[in-house]
Parts: sequence; structure tokens; C-alpha cells
Amino acid sequence: MTKKIQQLSLVVVASNKESQQQANTIAEQLACTVSDKPGLHDLALTVQSNPLSKIIDLELTLQKLNPPLKLLLDFNSKRSHYRKQSGGGKQQHIVRATGLHKNPGLRILDATAGLGSDSFVLACNSAIITLVEQHPILSLMLDNAVARAQQINELADIASRMQVCSAIDSIDLIHSLNKQHHYDVIYLDPMYPSIHKKQAKAKKSMQIIQYLLQYYDDQADQLLSAALSCGVKRIVVKRPTAAKPLINKSPQSSIESSKTRYDIYIQH
Ligand SMILES: C[S@@+](CC[C@H](N)C(=O)[O-])C[C@H]1O[C@@H](n2cnc3c(N)ncnc32)[C@H](O)[C@@H]1O
Repeated sequence: MTKKIQQLSLVVVASNKESQQQANTIAEQLACTVSDKPGLHDLALTVQSNPLSKIIDLELTLQKLNPPLKLLLDFNSKRSHYRKQSGGGKQQHIVRATGLHKNPGLRILDATAGLGSDSFVLACNSAIITLVEQHPILSLMLDNAVARAQQINELADIASRMQVCSAIDSIDLIHSLNKQHHYDVIYLDPMYPSIHKKQAKAKKSMQIIQYLLQYYDDQADQLLSAALSCGVKRIVVKRPTAAKPLINKSPQSSIESSKTRYDIYIQH
């Protein structure tokens, strides 16, 4: 894991004196350095202390692009509020695919948490969700975003249902599941095929993910194989509408929109 991070040109930046200590800790965790010359690196993770809260903000900048791309995970953003409102509907495809519309409070393992957007919608709809993201930078940013959301009255309840695991490979986690770690649903949203091969011009946040994942293998098929053999009853896979199902295994049912398809596998 650390090796893959070390291949990236990454630096941690403390935005001021107050955030220096936390910047040092994060740099140690990510096995990189703290510098005040972020311009020399492809990626800069800026640690900003927040005067209103004890919790820092973590912003990632992909500097090698012109203009640079910035990523701050924020469940209090306008976009997240929109998702919270529109995602509140039981008719939302992801809600129906996971079965939350009929069974509120399901325990869901989001094994490909990414930016946490899908997890957030599921948590808005009563899911108790564990977020697993293999990339250490994204995993740290997710943890930070959930911690900040817990400080906001309107979001505290939702964020309390979101638990971020430290960066691990979900396949290992799924293989190690036993009855004490019971989940009702495993949710998988691996990188879309075209995005992984860099054929399509992805949206900004996905361009950053592509850069971060350049040394990671596409494990979409292995994720589904592991999920199907771990005893969890419902597995949901998000795919582009035109793509074949993973491991060429037909799901019991699918819920489809113009761009996205949710394949649903029920294990008896
Ligand atoms: C398309 S993104 C997921 C986006 C996410 N659903 C969201 O709403 O933001 C796919 C993510 O899955 C993660 N991933 C892929 N394979 C994984 C694995 N075996 N273990 C943990 N994370 C994995 C990738 O690192 C990437 O961040």
C-alpha cells in the first residue's frame, strides 16, 4: 500500500502554524514529506485548520494539470444537500437496488467508497454504512469529511451512520467476514471500464481518482467473486448501462437508468 503511494509525487502542506502538527502526522501516515513548496509535486494535500472547529480540512490538488484540479470532500456542500434532498426519495434507484425502500436501517458495506457520494445517499436513506476505500489518501479524506459532517447539526445523525475503515483492500476484508461482522448488503461501484482505460474525459473528481489509482489493478471481477462467496445475502453492483455484468454473471434483477445500471444478486 505505502509503495503505491510512494510512486506518486505527493507532498503534504500545512496551510498555517496551527495545522503544522497535524500535517506532520498525516505525512508520516502517507510516508511522504511536508513542504512549503507544493509547486514541485504532482499532488499536494493541504491541511487547513478550521477556526470554527477542532477538525481540520483536507484538500487535495492535482497540480500537474493546468489549471490544477482541487478536491475537498464535503457532505455540507450544495451538491451534497441536493443529493440529500433528491436522494431522500424512496424511488431513488440506488435506494431500491439496496432494498432500503422496504427495509430501513440495513447494514451496508460500501466496498468501493471512493468519494463517499453513494454512501452518503444511502446513509441519508437510513443505511448504517461501512465505507472501505483502498487508497490511503481518499480514505483519510473520507474519514475527515465524515468527522466534519458529525460537527454539523443537520448532518450529525446521517454522519453517525457512516463509519470509515482505514485504507484496506476490500477483497481481503470480504474474505475475512464472519458472523460477527454481519452485513445485509455489499455495494460495489468499481471504476467504469472506459474510465479505467482513460478513454473518456472524466469529470474532475474522477480525473483525480484516475491519477491516484494509476498503480492499482482493476479488481472489479475479484470484488464480485469475493462478495458472492462470503454469505452476505444481497450484492449490488453499479455499472454503466451498456457494460456486461461483472464475471459475465447475470444478476437476478437490475434497475436501469439512461447511464447507470444496478445489478442485484441475491444469495440464498
Ligand atoms: C468509481 S469509484 C467509487 C465512487 C463511489 N461510489 C462514490 O460514490 O464516490 C471506485 C473506488 O473503488 C475503490 N476500489 C476499487 N477496488 C477496491 C478494493 N479492492 N478495495 C477497496 N477499494 C477499492 C477505488 O480506489 C476507487 O476509489
